[in-house]
Amino acid sequence: MVLMSYERSVSAPDHALSPETVWHIDMPEIRFGRDSTEELAFQLRDLGVDEDARGLVVTDENLVDIGHADRVAGEIREDGLSVDVYDDSEREPSVEAVADCIEFVREEAGEAGYDFYVGLGGGSCMDTAKVTRAVIANGGHPTDYIAEPTGEGEPLEDSGEPLVLMPTTAGTGAEISPVAILSVPEKEIKEGISSNNVRADAAVLDPTLTTTLPPDLTAKTAMDALGHAIEGYTTHEYDSLLRPTDPAERPVYAGRTPLTEMFSEKAIDLLSNNVRTAVHNGDDLEARENMLQGALFGAIAGLTAGASLCHAMAYPVGNKYHTTHGETIAVLTPASTIDYNSASDPSRFADLAEMFGVDTDGMTDREATDALKAEYVQLQRDLNVLPSGLDELAGITEEDVDWLAEQTVETQKRLLRTNPRPVTEDDVRDVFLDALYNWEET
Ligand SMILES: [Fe+2]
Repeated sequence: MVLMSYERSVSAPDHALSPETVWHIDMPEIRFGRDSTEELAFQLRDLGVDEDARGLVVTDENLVDIGHADRVAGEIREDGLSVDVYDDSEREPSVEAVADCIEFVREEAGEAGYDFYVGLGGGSCMDTAKVTRAVIANGGHPTDYIAEPTGEGEPLEDSGEPLVLMPTTAGTGAEISPVAILSVPEKEIKEGISSNNVRADAAVLDPTLTTTLPPDLTAKTAMDALGHAIEGYTTHEYDSLLRPTDPAERPVYAGRTPLTEMFSEKAIDLLSNNVRTAVHNGDDLEARENMLQGALFGAIAGLTAGASLCHAMAYPVGNKYHTTHGETIAVLTPASTIDYNSASDPSRFADLAEMFGVDTDGMTDREATDALKAEYVQLQRDLNVLPSGLDELAGITEEDVDWLAEQTVETQKRLLRTNPRPVTEDDVRDVFLDALYNWEET
C-alpha cells in the first residue's frame, strides 16, 4: 500500500505520524418513506424545537407552484408552530443568491434568525438552507467560510438552530453531506463550504415529493447519485492516509471504508435497476422510492468516502457553461472515473461491472472495465435525454480544454486530494479531450 503524503489529507504541523487506523461516520438523523412528510413536525420537536418556535422553509418558486411548499409548511403549522416560506432559491446558487436569503432572515427574524430551518427541494435549495443557517449562527458572509483561495476558509464554529432537509430529487445527497456548493460568478468557479457544522441535523426523505420531477431532471440527478456511488467505491482506502493527532482534523472526505463500500454496492443496484422506469414512467412510486433510497445510499458512500476527479472536473464546466451538475457528471464519468482512475485498482472496476449486471466470467480486469464503460454509456443512451459528450453538452471544443484543466487543478484541490490516482494538469486535459464525445451524435 502506498501512503499518501499527509498534506494530501489535511494540513497540520509536522509531528510523528502513523498510518490511519480509525474511521468515523457522522450522519444526520434519517427518516425515510412514503408520506414521511407527515412526521416532519415530530422530527422538529425531536430536535428540541419548542411550541412557540418560528421557522423558515427555504425552497423555490417551482415547488410553491407544484404545492409541495404548502404541504410542508402546512404540516408544520398543523402542529402549532409558525413558519415563513422563502421561495427565491436559485438553481446552482451563487454566493450572492445565498446572501439574499441570509438578508431575508436578518430582516424578518433579526440577527439571531429563526428557531429552525427546513430546506425543501433539490441540492440548490438544500445548500441555500445549509449555508443560511450556518452564516446566521456564525455571523458574516458566505465567502468567510468558503475554502481558500476563493474564500477566507474560516471554520464554522457553530452549527446553529435545527435544520431538516427534504429532497425532491433523487441525486445530490445534499440532505446528508457535510458540504454546500456555491458558485462564484466573478471568478467563474464553484466552491464548497465543507464542515460538519454545515451538515443538517435531520433528513426527511419522502418519495411522494419526487414523482413530480420531470424526466430530464430525473435522469440527470440519477447520474449524479450513481457518480457518488461509483466514485465512493473507487476512492482510496481510509487507512492509506496518515492519522491526525487531533481527531477533529480528520478530513470530512476520509476515504472508503467497509461501511461505505456496502452502501455503494446497494446504491448501484437500486439506481441502475430503477432509473429507466423512473425516467420513462415518473408516476411509478416504487421506482421513485428505490431511486430516492439509492441516491441516499450513494451519498452515504460517496459523500463520506469522497468524490474525486469527475466531481472536480464538473465544477469548472458547470460554472462556465451553466450546465447542470448531474448531466456534467454523466458526461465526464466514462473518461475520468472509469478510464483514467481504473489504472489505480483494476479489480475494483471489474467488481463495479458485476454490480452493473455485466457477466464478467472469463474476462480480464481490463476487459471487465471496458464492459463497465459500455454498460454505463448504454444506460445514458437509454435515458434519451443525456448529451453524448462535452461537445453536445455545451459546445465545448478542444480549444476550451486548457482553461478547464487549469481551473480544475487550481480550484478543486479539496476533491483532487482524495482521487485514487495522483492527477497532473496534463492528465486532466487528456481526460477532458476524451470526454468530448462518448458516442456518435445522431
Ligand atoms: Fe455530485
